[in-house]
Amino acid sequence: MSPSLWSRAATVAVLALAGLQFPQHAAAGGSVSSPTPNTCAGKFAYESAELTDAVLADIGAQDPASAPLLGFGDDPDSGSATRPPSGPACKVFPGDAAWPSTQLWNLFNTSLGGALIKTVPLAAPCYNNWPQRNAAECQYVTDHWADPHLHANDPASTQWPLFQGRTCLPTDDPTKNCTLGGYASYSVAVTKVSQIQLALNFARNTNIRLVVKNTGHDFADKSIGAGALSIWTHKLKDLRFFSDYRCKSYKGPAFQLGAGVETEEVYRAAELNGVTAVGGECRTVGIAGGYVAGGGHSPMTTLVGMGADQVISLQVVLPNGKFVTASEDSYPDLFWALRGGGGSTYGVVTSVVIKAYPKIPVTTMTFAFLNGPNVTLDTFWAGVGAYMSYFDRFTAAGAYGYFLVVGIGPGQYLFNFMPFWGGNMTAPQLTTLVSPFLTDLANLGIEVTPNITEYASFYRAFNGSFGPEQVGASVGHAGSRLFPRDNFAVPAKRNATLAAVRYAIEAGGVLVGYNIRPAANPAANQANAVNPAWRNSTGFFILGGPSLPATATDAEIAAAAKTLTTDWMKRWRDVSPGSGAYMSEGDINEPDFQQAFYGSYYQRLYALKKKYDPTGLFYAPTAVGSEDWYITGQIPYYPTQNGKLCRKP
Ligand SMILES: Cc1cc2nc3c(=O)[nH]c(=O)nc-3n(C[C@H](O)[C@H](O)[C@H](O)COP(=O)(O)OP(=O)(O)OC[C@H]3O[C@@H](n4cnc5c(N)ncnc54)[C@H](O)[C@@H]3O)c2cc1C
Ligand SMILES: *[C@@H]1O[C@H](CO)[C@@H](O)[C@H](O)[C@H]1NC(C)=O
Ligand SMILES: *[C@@H]1O[C@H](CO)[C@@H](O)[C@H](O)[C@H]1NC(C)=O
Ligand SMILES: *[C@@H]1O[C@H](CO)[C@@H](O)[C@H](O)[C@H]1NC(C)=O
Ligand SMILES: *[C@@H]1O[C@H](CO)[C@@H](O)[C@H](O)[C@H]1NC(C)=O
Ligand SMILES: *[C@@H]1O[C@H](CO)[C@@H](O)[C@H](O)[C@H]1NC(C)=O
Ligand SMILES: *[C@@H]1O[C@H](CO)[C@@H](O)[C@H](O)[C@H]1NC(C)=O
Ligand SMILES: *[C@@H]1O[C@H](CO)[C@@H](O)[C@H](O)[C@H]1NC(C)=O
Ligand SMILES: *[C@@H]1O[C@H](CO)[C@@H](O)[C@H](O)[C@H]1NC(C)=O
Repeated sequence: MSPSLWSRAATVAVLALAGLQFPQHAAAGGSVSSPTPNTCAGKFAYESAELTDAVLADIGAQDPASAPLLGFGDDPDSGSATRPPSGPACKVFPGDAAWPSTQLWNLFNTSLGGALIKTVPLAAPCYNNWPQRNAAECQYVTDHWADPHLHANDPASTQWPLFQGRTCLPTDDPTKNCTLGGYASYSVAVTKVSQIQLALNFARNTNIRLVVKNTGHDFADKSIGAGALSIWTHKLKDLRFFSDYRCKSYKGPAFQLGAGVETEEVYRAAELNGVTAVGGECRTVGIAGGYVAGGGHSPMTTLVGMGADQVISLQVVLPNGKFVTASEDSYPDLFWALRGGGGSTYGVVTSVVIKAYPKIPVTTMTFAFLNGPNVTLDTFWAGVGAYMSYFDRFTAAGAYGYFLVVGIGPGQYLFNFMPFWGGNMTAPQLTTLVSPFLTDLANLGIEVTPNITEYASFYRAFNGSFGPEQVGASVGHAGSRLFPRDNFAVPAKRNATLAAVRYAIEAGGVLVGYNIRPAANPAANQANAVNPAWRNSTGFFILGGPSLPATATDAEIAAAAKTLTTDWMKRWRDVSPGSGAYMSEGDINEPDFQQAFYGSYYQRLYALKKKYDPTGLFYAPTAVGSEDWYITGQIPYYPTQNGKLCRKP
């Protein structure tokens, strides 16, 4: 260890031990606020323990050497956005001379109050080369690998181990070696804003890669990275309901959600308080993190708009380490970007205030059909096409459709509603809405037995309809496409769209489809960075790529990924020119991802990225500005986070 590093390290330790107790300093920094119900939200208790200039000045007075490690970055308006980036080409990586010593990590840990976790991969108990080797724990991880809770509850894991590099999957061969691969080196299990500020400052000042992990649901694994320090937001579970929130132009029910609150938690809270919240269809997706940042689609979207449209304000730690409120009149440009412009790009969101809606009844419908003796394959697809012909009518009525089209055996295909969702509809209303569609199916000779069930509330319908999700896929991945209304409303375009869909499914793809369109909602704030392609679409289709055995090699994975992107998805892009895809459930290999995921907003988002994060502290694959970076050692079409992160020359 170099002497200078030691002196810095010692400084941090002394300061930490001498009481780097941020709550005591927060009063001096001036931002402890006590929440006042039903006015613009204050902060949560964990947000009042702030690192401020005053605190840093206190520390600096005790030991000037602390500044290089803990100091804030430049202000966003300091002009650094216009300066060309300088410094080393790559982020400091484990094994590099500049990588912090174990002593320094320990001291950093002390300054964090002991919140630092050194990564032990979830499946480490399956391997002899880890001291955690334990057959029973290995069995548990193996049995639960497909359960999203397992990965959400772990600081480093991700729902999609594929882009981690598959270096530590559950196995029954303990003699294999488990390595960290694309998992972060260390995580901070944050419970206070001050820890996030310290971590951002530490990572920026030591030039270490930074990632932000909430639940790890993003399809491109935006929450992991080799050699990274990870901010793990999972423990920020505070949740507060305001029955009559009054802030700026809004008056009505609202929730304030900590960054770690998951969909099922807010739905349950909404049920208990007699209101309806906007969240995902999957139980474990985090709301304040990647969901709002990516746009966020919901069974409520066809009634009230996107998840991001519901946001009234956010609390956020900027890349320079400062903690601010983003709202209509505080950092309005950032407020715009944080609602749809992508996660892990402009800072770390610590909480969000979202609108809620009155309680509504929900009626669902399920049925399935197959081709077979009485239904030819052409007729099967005509049935799918018949559904598509109603996409516009159904979304206009506020309905949302969630369905699966998949091959289930040689030459045999299944269409399944999971379910058709009538938000704010009674059973008679839904029955009237769908009856022409059911008549069309009957006329085609497709027999179905619809199960129409009315529920008294959103939560009851959600609980009765959406089963546990399966994750953990380690060989395949998915792409997605937003199809404009005309793709289904104009017969010739519908035919072309159906042909492109049919091609992919008959080649072995899996369609997870949504009939969805964000409702125009004057009560929501829809002037945000949500991909404009969402606004005109009535179909959002996710396509799972070619199926592969678990034993597939990297080369086979790359070949399948290439087929997905350059053949199957290409046909989808070709029939929907100028539209886009959903960044949070997108293809990591999406060509021209800037246009596809951000549309016409990309240049504005990129300028804001430069303004708020001039040093490139935040990086995630396909995030705004990610084109300026690369990961070393990648093979085409199978990009992983297992490599050094370097700036493109
Ligand atoms: C099974 C499944 C079902 C899904 N269903 C839906 C659905 O119904 N609707 C929908 O819209 N999406 C859905 N998604 C996609 C999901 O919304 C996105 O993956 C979303 O990004 C998840 O956010 P997260 O914070 O939970 O996950 P993470 O993967 O942990 O984070 C996603 C991104 O946001 C960043 N991030 C997380 N927290 C913060 C924070 N506090 N501040 C700044 N950046 C942060 C991360 O760094 C990462 O870049 C689904 C995904 C899966 C796997
Ligand atoms: C950080 O400190 C806590 C409390 O002392 C300890 O449990 C944890 O293992 C430490 N983390 C690291 C990476 O050493
Ligand atoms: C695991 O790593 C050890 C030490 O690096 C090496 O000797 C051994 O061959 C490796 N085993 C396998 C299966 O790769
Ligand atoms: C096909 O139609 C015949 C005649 O209506 C009927 O008896 C038979 O059950 C049907 N088969 C299937 C698989 O639906
Ligand atoms: C539900 O329907 C009622 C009655 O038509 C309407 O007043 C209310 O605004 C609707 N709620 C939502 C969330 O669409
Ligand atoms: C219809 O669906 C509901 C909700 O899933 C279920 O409880 C009920 O058993 C189903 N009815 C039939 C006849 O399958
Ligand atoms: C949720 O679903 C479970 C199992 O289907 C059921 O036992 C439980 O009562 C449901 N809860 C609510 C609030 O509907
Ligand atoms: C669409 O396809 C159907 C069935 O293949 C065909 O009958 C119809 O003429 C086509 N319509 C248009 C507008 O291409
Ligand atoms: C949405 O549709 C409108 C009207 O058809 C069109 O003017 C607009 O350009 C479309 N927007 C996008 C992003 O496709």
